[in-house]
Amino acid sequence: MELEDCAFPLLHGINTTSNLSVGYKDCDAAFLVGSKPRGPGMERGDLLKQNGAIFVEQGKALADNASRNVKVLVVGNPANTNCLIAMKNAKSLRPENFNAMTRLDHNRALSQLAAKASCKTTEISHMTIWGNHSSTMYADLHNTTVNGQNALSMVGQEWYEKTFIPTVAKRGAAIIDARGASSAASAANAAIDHMRDWFLGSEEWVSMAVPTDGTQYGVEKDLIYSFPCTVKNGVYSIVQGLRLNEFSQQRMKVTTDELVSERRDVEHML
Ligand code: LMR
Repeated sequence: MELEDCAFPLLHGINTTSNLSVGYKDCDAAFLVGSKPRGPGMERGDLLKQNGAIFVEQGKALADNASRNVKVLVVGNPANTNCLIAMKNAKSLRPENFNAMTRLDHNRALSQLAAKASCKTTEISHMTIWGNHSSTMYADLHNTTVNGQNALSMVGQEWYEKTFIPTVAKRGAAIIDARGASSAASAANAAIDHMRDWFLGSEEWVSMAVPTDGTQYGVEKDLIYSFPCTVKNGVYSIVQGLRLNEFSQQRMKVTTDELVSERRDVEHML
């Protein structure tokens, strides 16, 4: 009823179903939000056993029913590894059909930096979230600018390391502590941001967790890893040629190692 009451210009009808074949029939855009959310004191990876199995079925049903160009955005946690499970079970689709959401972390990073630098989020460019949507994610300011000026030199290394990176990484847990439930509106907003940019394009860098093929920034093959991306004609591309200092390489390795270990835990579902 509330969807109808929004009078969205693109809403031409609503079918509610729990039958995956009906739900995914000729689907062009799939938001995979159905999973158990974490509670206080839990890490997202703790949900792997309970939620992983859901994504086996989703992947198979997408492969059997969806459009061959479907864009699948996995939001349910642990999003990266759930996305890997769905992708591996969707044998007749391409890996590029599958993304996981780190746009929420990207947006969180924009707003934290905007508050510190006393600027608008629209004055910030080239924000990057690398890796897993978990507390190991790496929010990288090395290439970020505020009105064309280098953000890192504006805010200083100490605030960057001791405040910015952990605040962004633990923001999901802070929301759970504050409201007794995991993020809802900001997560929905980020999912819409991600899907809109995937369809309509973005010249500005956006963080998207995408399948790896072993050639990108030394990240190993067969993970779903967040990179800075741009999008053109419905196709995302990872931003190329960034120089990574030792600090960045170390942070990226930590989050890669976590993804590898999550993958090991779900090997039987892949
Ligand atoms: C978030 O980042 O807010 C969501 O992924 C929910 C969570 O478990 O933190």
